[in-house]
Amino acid sequence: QSAWTGVNERTFIAVKPDGVQRKLVGEIVRRFEKKGFKLVGLKLMQASEELLREHYSELRSKPFFRALIAYMGSGPVVAMVWQGLDVAKTARKMLGKTNPADSLPGTIRGDYCVEVGRNVIHGSDSVESAQREIALWFRQNELHCWEDNCNHWIY
Ligand code: PPS
Repeated sequence: QSAWTGVNERTFIAVKPDGVQRKLVGEIVRRFEKKGFKLVGLKLMQASEELLREHYSELRSKPFFRALIAYMGSGPVVAMVWQGLDVAKTARKMLGKTNPADSLPGTIRGDYCVEVGRNVIHGSDSVESAQREIALWFRQNELHCWEDNCNHWIY
């Protein structure tokens, strides 16, 4: 079993520029903390066009690619790495569907946005994508393997 599966699984989450501007950072962090995941990396940063093109490289032939890169570079984002059991899949459930119109109430997109081109948050779509995205956005020394000493149900 890989070192990054089970309770050590990690995923990449980014609060997009509209989420930062709408002051949703605290609410989003709160949801992941309360769920039981562990924050192992976090930074507010202006993503370069180069980084965004690489991050979304699989989408370069999509008609919305340019708009997506412009949107993601329109202001700072909060890049985060969260760790825990099944975190990649669970985070996607917490985010809701890509198009907020299809996202159920109770999910982040279901509660806080209406438009696919302004959907406030990104989450890796698989463990493999997460590994690629974490390596792209974070240096190794920006990730912290801290131990919580209080229990066995916070991962
Ligand atoms: S696709 O077409 O199935 O590959 O797209 P999808 O996997 O649903 O979404 C991939 C990312 O593209 C964003 N997206 C859009 N941005 C702007 N405009 C439009 N129309 C649009 N459609 C999809 C979508 O939010 C995904 O980005 P992330 O950062 O993962 O949310």
